[in-house]
Amino acid sequence: MSQTHSKTARRIIIAIFLLACFLLCLYYLLPVGYFNINMLNYPVDQVQINNEETCLRVLKTQNYRCTVNNNVTKLLMTTSAPKPLTTTKKEEPDTIVLIWMWPFGVPFELGSCSSAFNIHGCHLTDDKGLFNQAHGVMIHHRDISWDLSNMPQLPRTTFQKWIWWNMESPTHSGQNPQLKDLFNLTSSYRRDSDIPVPYGWLSEATEEEKKYLSTIPEKSKLVCWIASNYNPNYKRSHYFTELVKYINVETHGGHFNKRINNDEYVNLVSSCKFYLSFENSIHRDYITEKLFNPLNIGTVPVVIGPPRENYEQFIPSEAFIHVDDFPSPKELADHLRLLDQNKDLYMRYFTWREHFVSKSSLFGFEHACWICDYIRKNKHYKVVRDLNSWYWG
Ligand SMILES: *[C@@H]1O[C@H](CO)[C@@H](O)[C@H](O)[C@H]1NC(C)=O
Ligand SMILES: *[C@@H]1O[C@H](CO)[C@@H](O)[C@H](O)[C@H]1NC(C)=O
Repeated sequence: MSQTHSKTARRIIIAIFLLACFLLCLYYLLPVGYFNINMLNYPVDQVQINNEETCLRVLKTQNYRCTVNNNVTKLLMTTSAPKPLTTTKKEEPDTIVLIWMWPFGVPFELGSCSSAFNIHGCHLTDDKGLFNQAHGVMIHHRDISWDLSNMPQLPRTTFQKWIWWNMESPTHSGQNPQLKDLFNLTSSYRRDSDIPVPYGWLSEATEEEKKYLSTIPEKSKLVCWIASNYNPNYKRSHYFTELVKYINVETHGGHFNKRINNDEYVNLVSSCKFYLSFENSIHRDYITEKLFNPLNIGTVPVVIGPPRENYEQFIPSEAFIHVDDFPSPKELADHLRLLDQNKDLYMRYFTWREHFVSKSSLFGFEHACWICDYIRKNKHYKVVRDLNSWYWG
């Protein structure tokens, strides 16, 4: 009788033990194995995703490597392990960057600065509850109320820096004298900002990129222009009115009642030999996506903007045509027609593509990461004394 009892007891203990093992296994395996493999239907460490952006977005929440056709694997691998291998150094606490207001009220995705830019130790947030802990507070110029009522009202901690952030040119940014002596850092397209973020840049092409850069898209149109924001007083409007007297320009965009979406944009611009990269206002360093997109797509930009020397601080002299290179729109039109007839001359505008690829910055997210990087590296006291005379002066 007592033997059967102790046998049953032993069985029960073994059963409990096995059950506990099973539960433990489940607990550890579920999040790593099951979630990664099955929820996403991909094998654990190799995920084929066609575009880099999706890859980065997915990577943000998952611990695995992405293989993208342009080979960002290496870049991304730095964050692929939950614990980086380089924990031997004493880790500095994360730098908190608070996005106080979304630019134009539109949220952008707060991805991982380490996967995107190899900038480590950043915590980006829009949680105002973290105000007192934040090392940097980003304030977007266009969204500041005239009476500053939507600015942080709490006193800032001794280490906290406020960053004035703007991507509009002075012509399109309202001045507010109350903004004097409020900020510690500036971030804008201007190269003399504390944290400059240009609209685009040429980066060294990888072997993979060189393959697609070597082919120039087929051309069926000569000159194209897309304009949504048309103001007859802009320099570009005057120039355009003259130019069309001498050469045909294929026009699209809101102003011409021919709005186009993103895909149509790429198809259209790639089919044009020349694109009018005419900036809406003329300011030093104000060289926007109107230049970098056609360069990326494989179309020769004809620019109106700051002087040629300023452009040449961003791109090679032979990559573009400046309207100032010609005494008048008529001579420019003659030159474009000459290039239309002479393939060798035209192709010279693409030699830079043997080494470089045109990249565009990610508005907002890119600012936040570089701001974090700056704040981590520069802990000194700093005040922007006269924002108004610097930016609008
Ligand atoms: C990506 O890089 C790896 C390692 O550098 C290399 O072995 C592989 O061939 C590359 N893949 C492509 C598609 O370029
Ligand atoms: C930031 O600027 C404000 C306003 O001038 C100043 O009071 C504060 O001490 C500065 N903080 C840092 C960390 O530089």
